[in-house]
Amino acid sequence: MIELIGVSKTFNGRTAVDAIDLTIPKGSICVLVGTSGCGKSTTLRMINRLLPHDAGIIRIDGQEIRSFNEQKLRQQIGYAIQSTGLFPHWTVERNIGLVPRLLRWPKQKIQDRVEELMTLLDLDPAIYARQYPRQLSGGQAQRVGVARALAGNPETLLMDEPFGALDPITRDNLQNELLRIQAQVKKTIVFVTHDIDEALKLASQIVVMDQGRIVQVDHPEQLLRHPANAYVENLFGSQDRGLKLASLFPVRSLFETDTPIQANGLKAPGSGPEDCIEATDSLRLALSKMLWAGASEMPVVDANGQVLGQLTLEQILRANGK
Ligand SMILES: Nc1ncnc2c1ncn2[C@@H]1O[C@H](COP(=O)(O)OP(=O)(O)O)[C@@H](O)[C@H]1O
Ligand SMILES: [Mg+2]
Repeated sequence: MIELIGVSKTFNGRTAVDAIDLTIPKGSICVLVGTSGCGKSTTLRMINRLLPHDAGIIRIDGQEIRSFNEQKLRQQIGYAIQSTGLFPHWTVERNIGLVPRLLRWPKQKIQDRVEELMTLLDLDPAIYARQYPRQLSGGQAQRVGVARALAGNPETLLMDEPFGALDPITRDNLQNELLRIQAQVKKTIVFVTHDIDEALKLASQIVVMDQGRIVQVDHPEQLLRHPANAYVENLFGSQDRGLKLASLFPVRSLFETDTPIQANGLKAPGSGPEDCIEATDSLRLALSKMLWAGASEMPVVDANGQVLGQLTLEQILRANGK
């Protein structure tokens, strides 16, 4: 658990973070959002003491961070940033293995871990392990940065717009990967982004900041339905809130809570990803598929292509309107 109590930071007499209180439960993904300059990165960098806080208390698992050995603290907290911060004269494998080496892991264990992470992040070790950061594309360098942050198996991860330079497909893959890793090993993740859809997708808790202050802390659904003020409402897109809300719920959730739909156990005839809805699709994606097909209902299939039943527009409307 990470706690911030009355934490402030001032740069040359200007307040960047203004007496914020925040509790981040263990095993959650806490996403900080807000307009540029509102203090997100400063907040993150105080947690691993890259910046000293001027006032207040920051505790990790009950212990004030000033009482930790600074180097040890940073080895225990993974940190990934948009500009990657890779060492230019080190190969990819050396960059990723930084923390494991500091933790004095045996050589073979480090090598295995580096290869495991590169594979996870879709970087072929045979091709990229010996390359230097300047030989990589922006997206590849970012993935190396994320691999490095994960390398020492830290319980806490701080991520500052780590997927900012990635193309939408890689970005989506990495977001899913992060959710998978988090579900498996329950890391506590503090994540900064200016991409609201990314925030809604990843967050168990969203923290909205404005001019160094926290204006709202809530679950994604609550933030969309009950924004604390006009700033929050604007940030979360007052125009397309309906679609953002629909993106939060998988089609599956309807099948569990709504009147059970008769499963007929048949394969959808000639079904491809476009003419049927997958149970794991969001209501937003389901709606998009219906709009594209010009259909007011479509079959829903599970991972094996078995038809679970029909989803109607009516059901989507009812679910979103709750
Ligand atoms: N090292 C620094 N020196 C002086 N001012 C800084 C420094 N880092 C951040 N600031 C200022 O603090 C405020 C918050 O910055 P930052 O936390 O980077 O915002 P965000 O990450 O939300 O865009 C901004 O006004 C920024 O100019
Ligand atoms: Mg920033």
